[in-house]
Amino acid sequence: MGVEVRVEGLTKSFGRQSVWADVSLTLPAGEISVLLGPSGTGKSVFLKTLVGLFRPDRGNIWITGRNLPRLSERDLYEVRKLFGVLFQDGALFGSMNIYDNVAFPLREHTRKSESEVRRIVTEKLEMVGLSGAEGKLPGQISGGMRKRAGLARALVLDPEIILFDEPDSGLDPVRTAYLNQLIIDLNQQTDATFLIVTHDINTARTVPDNIGLLYHGHLAMFGPREMLLSSTEPVVRQFLNAQRFGPIGMAEEKDATELAAEAEAGVELPPLPPIPVQLQPSNGQPRRAERPPGQWCAEHGVIPPPGSFQSPAAPAGAARPRLVALHSDGEESPWQTR
Ligand SMILES: Nc1ncnc2c1ncn2[C@@H]1O[C@H](COP(=O)(O)OP(=O)(O)O)[C@@H](O)[C@H]1O
Ligand SMILES: [Mg+2]
Repeated sequence: MGVEVRVEGLTKSFGRQSVWADVSLTLPAGEISVLLGPSGTGKSVFLKTLVGLFRPDRGNIWITGRNLPRLSERDLYEVRKLFGVLFQDGALFGSMNIYDNVAFPLREHTRKSESEVRRIVTEKLEMVGLSGAEGKLPGQISGGMRKRAGLARALVLDPEIILFDEPDSGLDPVRTAYLNQLIIDLNQQTDATFLIVTHDINTARTVPDNIGLLYHGHLAMFGPREMLLSSTEPVVRQFLNAQRFGPIGMAEEKDATELAAEAEAGVELPPLPPIPVQLQPSNGQPRRAERPPGQWCAEHGVIPPPGSFQSPAAPAGAARPRLVALHSDGEESPWQTR
């Protein structure tokens, strides 16, 4: 089972440039969370601060009762073993074949025998669907396969927390769909706590249990997926629905004149699109963190946008997700899907 990560009042700057300030959020144990934000808002810096590669100016990062920014280098080294990280480009060694790349952390951090290493590497390559590619060099395989290899390497030490930095960047939509499914399946198999940095709206809308949005040096919002997808808070609404109207402009923040002009023109925001059903594990077994579609909305008296939680044409025989709807008396009850 993964562990909880509790971030309190985290602030980071480089010299006089503030990256973000006062970020507080909790990654619930075993759940998948996504961190969204325009480029340059410090998403990668956030991941690197979580694993202790950067020290924050202020704030706490609580993991298994230890506060990372307060740890000595030696204790930090121990806590880092809880993490698996998939960096943006896979960060593979170009001159090493896939097998040796994936075996690297085991040879570096453990005293396992080569036969034990072989067993683990084979198992992880199988998990990410890369069996047979052991002998290839990173330059000889596609971008999608390199991401998978990076993922296998992030998995070899059986991490409790897995961080993904834009796993979908540079992938075509079909490969992104496969990777998203792989993430869901891995979460089900490992029960680890996942944090995925992305700016792919479709990934953010369908994969995670929780969504956070970094914007303009602050965490605009963090919470359950249904909470953000039904939110009418202008920044959240604009970003999660990829809309042009709202406070975010080309230069990240629109100036007052532009916003005033939009207001004057009486720009009517399009209605919120339906909340999609969350991706489910391909083997039909639920994830431990999975909740019935509509549960958050029902519990919080939020009426989801019309058409929400209608699953796309499911393959014959596939189990339909159970929906939860809000009755007028506030009672929760199962919804019938068509
Ligand atoms: N090692 C560093 N030293 C100084 N500034 C940095 C360093 N790493 C990142 N930054 C700055 O922090 C800001 C956020 O960068 P980054 O986290 O890479 O953004 P994102 O991943 O959201 O696109 C940028 O302005 C970047 O220039
Ligand atoms: Mg980045």
